[in-house]
Amino acid sequence: GSVDKGEYKHYMLKEIYEQPKVVHAAMEGRLGKDSVLEQAFGTGAAEIFDQVRQVQIVACGTSYHAGLIARYWIEDLAGIPCMVEVASEFRYRKVVLPPGTLFVSISQSGETADTLAALREVRDRVLASLAICNVPGSSLVRESDLCLMTNAGPEIGVASTKAFTTQLVALLLTTLVLGRRHGLAPETEARIVDELKQLPALLERVLSLDPAIEKMSQAFAEKQHALFLGRGTLNPVAMEGALKLKEISYIHAEAYAAGELKHGPLALVDKDMPVVTVAPRNEMLDKLKANLQEVKARGGELFVFAGCSDEVLPEEGVQVLELPPVPGILEPIVYTLPLQLLSYHVAVLKGTDVDQPRNLAKSVTVE
Ligand code: G6P
Repeated sequence: GSVDKGEYKHYMLKEIYEQPKVVHAAMEGRLGKDSVLEQAFGTGAAEIFDQVRQVQIVACGTSYHAGLIARYWIEDLAGIPCMVEVASEFRYRKVVLPPGTLFVSISQSGETADTLAALREVRDRVLASLAICNVPGSSLVRESDLCLMTNAGPEIGVASTKAFTTQLVALLLTTLVLGRRHGLAPETEARIVDELKQLPALLERVLSLDPAIEKMSQAFAEKQHALFLGRGTLNPVAMEGALKLKEISYIHAEAYAAGELKHGPLALVDKDMPVVTVAPRNEMLDKLKANLQEVKARGGELFVFAGCSDEVLPEEGVQVLELPPVPGILEPIVYTLPLQLLSYHVAVLKGTDVDQPRNLAKSVTVE
């Protein structure tokens, strides 16, 4: 095709490094000075958004993780109930859809069989359908009432990276257009719009930490398992980090909401089970730190991506990498990058086929 790897060893690495540029493309032309321009969603968007009373998100794989993050945003900022489900379950369940349901599908390819089937299953029973998608003219886009293209450009690596972060930008724009109808203060929208404009530069700064992340990756190459922990919007980020690691390095990785540690995974923690945590400096940090202490006490090796290293002091068995200060709303986007880079470097050390991991396909167009 017309896409080549340029100076990069793998498409995945190229796509990770493209993120500052493509998150910009995902918001370009869609932001006014203080607000999101809703024409970007298609004709009739404003009338549809006026009537939304609940949101049902459906997706698969990495796109599903984007949906899980959007749920926190939609309920927090728009105050609208939001459900999220993997398409393969949703499509076969007797789903109850309250009046005023906006059905949102999220898909890089727009051709994932289960996601498409879910849309076809419910489209006559919902207020409207919105596709968040990276491929113009794909089936999902053609068959949905509204769409917001993620503008990430072609993604070749099977493990999704830039498609995910641009989906998050698109979902944040969606949250804002819904929120303004449900009491979201114009000042809050203006602040978030302003913060979004800082995102490309923030991502550049995180990419500059790559050498330190590459060094950290050495600790994983010989491991059989890894545990990822996060809280709030960083919980789905931990899930996405675990998915990346298992997809391309074949290391068994699991993510847990940090607060669930005591309810099972703590039994697995020992020196052979590295624990990766995304710990921005937010109101959940103290809770998360208590969870980390429990891991430490069991001899677990900790790898912490932290917003403030003063708060999570490096000590024996704890490696801390400090990220730049991040506006709270952008945390899940920014903290995804170090986890992508970590998996990438672990996979390179293990010598796997990074762009074409065994048994996996870029687009799952049959059930
Ligand atoms: C496959 C890909 C994943 C992707 C998932 C959903 O499993 O390997 O990277 O997240 O499908 O694909 P979609 O195109 O619907 O986002």
